[in-house]
Amino acid sequence: MKTRTVPTGQSKWYKTQLLLKNNTIKLFIPDTRKFNKRNLEQMIRSYGMIYIKPERGTYGNGVIRAEQGEHRGFTYQYEETIRHFDTFEAFHSSLAKKTGRRSYLIQKGIHLLKHNGRRFDIRVMVQLSPKGVWEATGIIGRLGHPRKIVTNYHSGGKPTAIEKLLSTHLTSMQLAQLTGELNRLGTRIAAQMQKTFPRHRQFGVDVGLDRTLKPWIIEVNMNPDPYIFNQLKDKSMYRRVMRYRRFYLKQ
Ligand SMILES: Nc1ncnc2c1ncn2[C@@H]1O[C@H](COP(=O)(O)OP(=O)(O)O)[C@@H](O)[C@H]1O
Ligand SMILES: [Mg+2]
Repeated sequence: MKTRTVPTGQSKWYKTQLLLKNNTIKLFIPDTRKFNKRNLEQMIRSYGMIYIKPERGTYGNGVIRAEQGEHRGFTYQYEETIRHFDTFEAFHSSLAKKTGRRSYLIQKGIHLLKHNGRRFDIRVMVQLSPKGVWEATGIIGRLGHPRKIVTNYHSGGKPTAIEKLLSTHLTSMQLAQLTGELNRLGTRIAAQMQKTFPRHRQFGVDVGLDRTLKPWIIEVNMNPDPYIFNQLKDKSMYRRVMRYRRFYLKQ
């Protein structure tokens, strides 16, 4: 007997497959595959740097960053530990031991922009407005802890205004342009996700910017934390996010 799989917003693999169905969104998704020996070898050799993460992880837990060294060797980092390996075999078997029987994904690594030597990415909050249209209601940067490879708040990341993080990389006109682009991408993603999750009212999109300032979708969160916006001095985004939230929580 065939069992029907219920759509689950917990699986990063499942959510990635949903987004890949949209040809515009697809352009912003880094190559993502299941963790296995073959994919590991192909991806580390073609991208040089990859992220390995639990299919159903949260808060940056269990995320690993791996690189191929200049001379054949390999390294990976998780939390604050870095390990080196001379051969692909040793590298793979250490990772396989770490991942165990749990399902992990491998994603092309994005060389995230830095601010004062710390990596950052961007969270775009998208919510259904009281009028019933998708709106990007908040946008905030997340500045990673200097010794960590993830930017999550629960892993020591610091919510920071994007103006502060991007002012050294962009002019204010370019920043306005990029913000507009991210807002459009966010609402497009929400509309695509809504096809499978019709009752869902909010999504949080994690976006990484590479050195060319191209945005890459790192993941889409089903239950984004609204309180990170309260960390900004300017409370206007926080108030809007909470106002929209109150509206749909009432329904
Ligand atoms: N492909 C990637 N390239 C660069 N950084 C990444 C990549 N994937 C994850 N990260 C970093 O790790 C963090 C956590 O990964 P994410 O996929 O969002 O999992 P989680 O559900 O644990 O938040 C991201 O916010 C980002 O800082
Ligand atoms: Mg995340």
